[in-house]
Amino acid sequence: MLKICVCVSGGGTNLQAIIDAIDNGTITNAEIVRVISNNKGVYALERAQKHNIDALVVSPKDYETRELFNEALLAAIDEVEPDLIVLAGFLVVIPEKMIQKYRNRIINIHPSLIPSFCGTGYYGLKVHEAALERGVKVTGATVHFVDEGTDTGPIILQKAVEVLPGDTPKVLQQRVMEEAEWKILPQAINLISNGELK
Ligand code: GAR
Repeated sequence: MLKICVCVSGGGTNLQAIIDAIDNGTITNAEIVRVISNNKGVYALERAQKHNIDALVVSPKDYETRELFNEALLAAIDEVEPDLIVLAGFLVVIPEKMIQKYRNRIINIHPSLIPSFCGTGYYGLKVHEAALERGVKVTGATVHFVDEGTDTGPIILQKAVEVLPGDTPKVLQQRVMEEAEWKILPQAINLISNGELK
């Protein structure tokens, strides 16, 4: 059984997609052992609690320095000895020590077709604002391994999504989530939990 730790910052719809996929058998051989949020009071935490998943907050606001926050984050992860860490809308710069320790065992979902609209400053709605600004006709989502760069690690899965006339950033974000993110994130986890990814 692959032990997964999911890291979140907000609404947690990608977390929900993972929970649902485990429940309905789209993901096999995996369980979520912990959810960690860097923000207090976010809906992702409620989603975890509703499913009796251990959930805790590790917020930078509770630590005097970034260093201390990084240590607390890593300790919260180490405690559950995960086989895989899933960044599901986790808007935190991942400490280098964590990347080294869990190399090839951290994956991230990004709401664009990398290498478009990714890197520093591209997160959440900003990604879709930039895509609309540029006038692309196709966008999508990417699941990739996390390395020392921002959105630079090896790509696992991508799915394209059409941009439609009249799209607002919010409308586009919702379509990218429904048609791409909530599908390829569970798919990628299932590949890993069944040893189908090298
Ligand atoms: C998702 O769209 C995810 O791809 C994005 O944040 C959103 C979180 O939504 N992540 C990034 O932009 C990472 N750079 P959720 O909390 O409802 O899953």
